[in-house]
Amino acid sequence: MKKDLLSLLDLEKGDFQHLFKRAIQLKERYSKGIFDSLLTGKTLGLIFDKKSTRTRIAFETAMIQLGGHPIYMSTQDTQISRNEPAKDTARVLSRYIDCLAMRTFDHELVEEFAQSSSIPVINALTDSFHPCQILSDIMTIIQHKGGYENVKIAWVGDGNNVANSWVNAASVLGLNLRLACPDGHSIRRDIIANAGADTMDNIVFTNDPKEAVKNADVVYTDVWASMGEEAQLEGRLRAFEGFQVNHELLSHAKSDVLVLHCLPAHRGEEISEQVLEAEGAAFWDQAENKRHMHKAILESLILA
Ligand code: CP
Ligand code: NVA
Repeated sequence: MKKDLLSLLDLEKGDFQHLFKRAIQLKERYSKGIFDSLLTGKTLGLIFDKKSTRTRIAFETAMIQLGGHPIYMSTQDTQISRNEPAKDTARVLSRYIDCLAMRTFDHELVEEFAQSSSIPVINALTDSFHPCQILSDIMTIIQHKGGYENVKIAWVGDGNNVANSWVNAASVLGLNLRLACPDGHSIRRDIIANAGADTMDNIVFTNDPKEAVKNADVVYTDVWASMGEEAQLEGRLRAFEGFQVNHELLSHAKSDVLVLHCLPAHRGEEISEQVLEAEGAAFWDQAENKRHMHKAILESLILA
């Protein structure tokens, strides 16, 4: 039966471990100039209703480097924009392509595509989740910290799609995760309940950034207004006062703290210019790892 990757709750611990190992192996092989033509003759379709630099290009280059082909479909240029139902589009695309990566607003739309497709569907970001991002982020943590067990991870900022996927990952992998979100912007109750995170000691929710960051090995942040929420930015700037990841906040973390951001970053809002531009910053490794992780994901779903 075909598998989808819509949320990290679709994966078991062993699936995560396989993807980390395989993505690191593929990265090493690529650095030695070895191209693994694992997906020759296979086609990945990409439907993106929201902007993307990293996720789209990482998927496209991953597919090309594995010997396959990506086809980017702008919603505006397909019959989706003229209200062809998702279930019809999904059934037709299943006759042409081998896998579909989709970025959209409503998570239910990705679920609808997955239900009606006979090919694997990958969530490339919805309002609710960004699973592929967290897979490559944990890969980055493994590479910088030697593993993810006993690593204290702090989330500082909005209780958004990326944070939700961190909660899911922490629940499956038993990660030590503390999330600080301002009142009114915390993680949705249904996300916490679905992950079973309300009964897990390893996942702590707070509204105090210093409490989350205290002795942390990893500090992660993301924009205060996600795609589709731009009109709320002014009010959010007030709500998120004190939540900027800057040198003062990081002084509460371990001295060798690894700072991560999924990017794009808004300098002077959720992260300071100094932290973003710090020598040895890992943000660019983090972005690169998306391509290697996407290869591992594509291989595991298309060749399943
Ligand atoms: N991190 C991330 O998903 O970036 P893009 O929006 O550029 O794809
Ligand atoms: N939370 C951000 C992530 C971008 C990669 C957004 O949804 O816009």
